[in-house]
Amino acid sequence: MEIPRLETPRLLLQPLRSEDAIQVQQVFPRWEIVRHLIGSVPWPYPADGARQYIEGMALPAMKAGQAWHWSLRHRSDPNSLIGLISLRLGPEDNRGSWLVPEWQKQGLMSEACAAVTDFWFIHLDQTRLRVPKAMDNLASRRISERTGMRLVDTYCKTFVEGELPAGTWELTRDEWLAQRDRG
Ligand SMILES: CC(C)(COP(=O)(O)OP(=O)(O)OC[C@H]1O[C@@H](n2cnc3c(N)ncnc32)[C@H](O)[C@@H]1OP(=O)(O)O)[C@@H](O)C(=O)NCCC(=O)NCCS
Repeated sequence: MEIPRLETPRLLLQPLRSEDAIQVQQVFPRWEIVRHLIGSVPWPYPADGARQYIEGMALPAMKAGQAWHWSLRHRSDPNSLIGLISLRLGPEDNRGSWLVPEWQKQGLMSEACAAVTDFWFIHLDQTRLRVPKAMDNLASRRISERTGMRLVDTYCKTFVEGELPAGTWELTRDEWLAQRDRG
């Protein structure tokens, strides 16, 4: 399936490409970004970490129809990659994202999450979205809370920062569609 380009009021979501590795390598390896990401993210980040991730994992999963990855660009500067957002099939870990700190706390990831969550439930016709996150990841938790996700499980999980209390947040298609209808 061709992965569409998505748009939000302020962002362009462009399907991830090999050439994005150069910009990802420049902006991604920062402690504020990686500390609450899954422990399999290598840290310190290797010099070819972005290329390995994009060519070795992300693009093959997209090609296999198992995952959907988009680069995030602000409409004011569409040549600059400022983050990524992804969807993955599977029982437990369906959405992931990061944004460079200079662009955080402006509601941008809330916009991107709304666009890809629509894609997940409407275009991909999935019935449930589950996202694990560190309890300490307040911004990410806030996105879950604001979009009506429910905390359905708690446990300890290994993040780049180490083993931390974590939880799985869940949203069903019916819940998502109901809140869209409410506007
Ligand atoms: C999580 C992340 C993507 C959020 O991106 P963002 O664009 O800053 O998020 P938004 O601006 O849409 O903010 C979402 C909510 O979190 C709140 N928030 C943002 N940063 C916060 C912080 N540091 N502490 C507490 N709340 C915060 C916002 O006020 C907003 O709440 P509101 O909707 O009630 O106003 C970003 O912080 C990030 O890239 N973190 C590092 C990577 C990561 O942890 N990814 C998620 C893994 S599960």
